[in-house]
Amino acid sequence: MASILTIAILLLLHRRTSASTIDSSKRPHGFCKQLDIPVFATAASAIYDIPRVDNDIEATAWAIYDATRDTPHNVQNIIKNTTTSGIFNIHAQLCVPKSSKKEDVLQIATHGVHYDSRYWDSEYQPEKHSYVDAALKAGYSILTYDRLGVGQSDKPDAYTVTQAPLELEILRQLTLMARNGTLYSFAGKAKPVDAAFNTLAKPKKVVHLGHSFGSFLTSAFIANYGPLSDGAIITGYLLTENLASAGSTSFNVEYAATSCPPFDRPSGYVVCQKNGIQNIFFGGDLKTAFTPELLNYGNDIKQPVPIGELASAFWLLGNYGPSFKAPVQYLLPEFDFYVCRGDCKGLANVTALAQTYPNATDIEVAIQPNTGHALPLHNNATAGFQLSFDFLARHGL
Ligand SMILES: *[C@@H]1O[C@H](CO)[C@@H](O)[C@H](O)[C@H]1NC(C)=O
Ligand SMILES: *[C@@H]1O[C@H](CO)[C@@H](O)[C@H](O)[C@H]1NC(C)=O
Ligand SMILES: *[C@@H]1O[C@H](CO)[C@@H](O)[C@H](O)[C@H]1NC(C)=O
Ligand SMILES: *[C@@H]1O[C@H](CO)[C@@H](O)[C@H](O)[C@H]1NC(C)=O
Ligand SMILES: *[C@@H]1O[C@H](CO)[C@@H](O)[C@H](O)[C@H]1NC(C)=O
Repeated sequence: MASILTIAILLLLHRRTSASTIDSSKRPHGFCKQLDIPVFATAASAIYDIPRVDNDIEATAWAIYDATRDTPHNVQNIIKNTTTSGIFNIHAQLCVPKSSKKEDVLQIATHGVHYDSRYWDSEYQPEKHSYVDAALKAGYSILTYDRLGVGQSDKPDAYTVTQAPLELEILRQLTLMARNGTLYSFAGKAKPVDAAFNTLAKPKKVVHLGHSFGSFLTSAFIANYGPLSDGAIITGYLLTENLASAGSTSFNVEYAATSCPPFDRPSGYVVCQKNGIQNIFFGGDLKTAFTPELLNYGNDIKQPVPIGELASAFWLLGNYGPSFKAPVQYLLPEFDFYVCRGDCKGLANVTALAQTYPNATDIEVAIQPNTGHALPLHNNATAGFQLSFDFLARHGL
């Protein structure tokens, strides 16, 4: 009896091991490994005067509150300043290219709100929509991670913990780990063992890439910690009076705990309905810009948002960055509704951007035509990815 049980357990263990071996998947152009990284971070936080959200009606009421013209925002909305410290589990994926031509350049990609790291790595037609696969093909290593509060990372309190300055500090810690070699040695030791990760030399250059709220974080990061970045790609974000002017009601949110599988979010996490995903993330000519399948996929991989993250987002905007001495590209989707109120052409003021980053070696603004906010989930995505790779290559990255 006992030995039959033992064999059954061993078989089960064996199956689990093989399943996770497949997870550390081989890609057409590289190798990827899933990591759960304990990140110690301490940052300024606050108690904001925002309503609680514990059901669908309160979710919509929060959006109306947030979009109401005389609702106080930013520091005016703080009841008490606090400090948050802890060790947070951050789920990440490190991928390294097969061809070694740029293995010394690591891209660190930060996704926006309503998504997790899968934003960068579409499982739907990855050859056309996965930025990760395109980066590997171009020879880059790339770290994608689920920000605090989404995906397989920790999901702490939506009001008082999951806030922008803490997320900025998590990005700083991940960058420090990448630069001092601990990220790659952690990846080498993490199970299952994979030869592709055993002998990695630490990256010589680190490029920061963001989308939307991930670009708020990336632009604040290079402004505050310029020497830690060798280049930046800011996608789907430009600070003008149009940013977020469509308002939070355009998200069409519901209460995540009852609306979003696996129904494990606490109070204060809200999630877009499908038309909210279309409002924010999809745009362009309906015949040519994206397919119904891409919109379905964009809806399938959506993630809830903790409302304290949105209340605290202002800390990341417009930070002055004289310490950044590297190139930065702004890649704007032509028909970005949430950021440019539906048309980004002619909105960027490079003189103003140069006042924000006075020591940047180059500031380029590029428009990706016939595309909405979610750049990878439109038909012409790979040509857009190439604009960033070409920009980096022009700067030796
Ligand atoms: C919280 O800190 C900010 C920035 O230092 C300050 O402007 C604000 O007045 C403070 N709010 C309270 C309630 O202490
Ligand atoms: C590398 O950086 C991480 C994150 O700041 C830190 O915890 C670790 O001690 C550093 N390791 C070395 C060897 O400097
Ligand atoms: C550029 O960096 C230098 C050295 O860090 C600094 O002294 C200078 O103020 C910066 N330039 C501007 C225009 O801020
Ligand atoms: C661009 O920004 C500069 C610096 O802030 C400002 O002087 C100029 O008027 C702006 N140009 C336009 C067209 O808004
Ligand atoms: C696809 O994107 C590239 C890069 O921005 C652009 O040059 C090209 O015109 C786009 N193609 C279409 C059909 O929009």
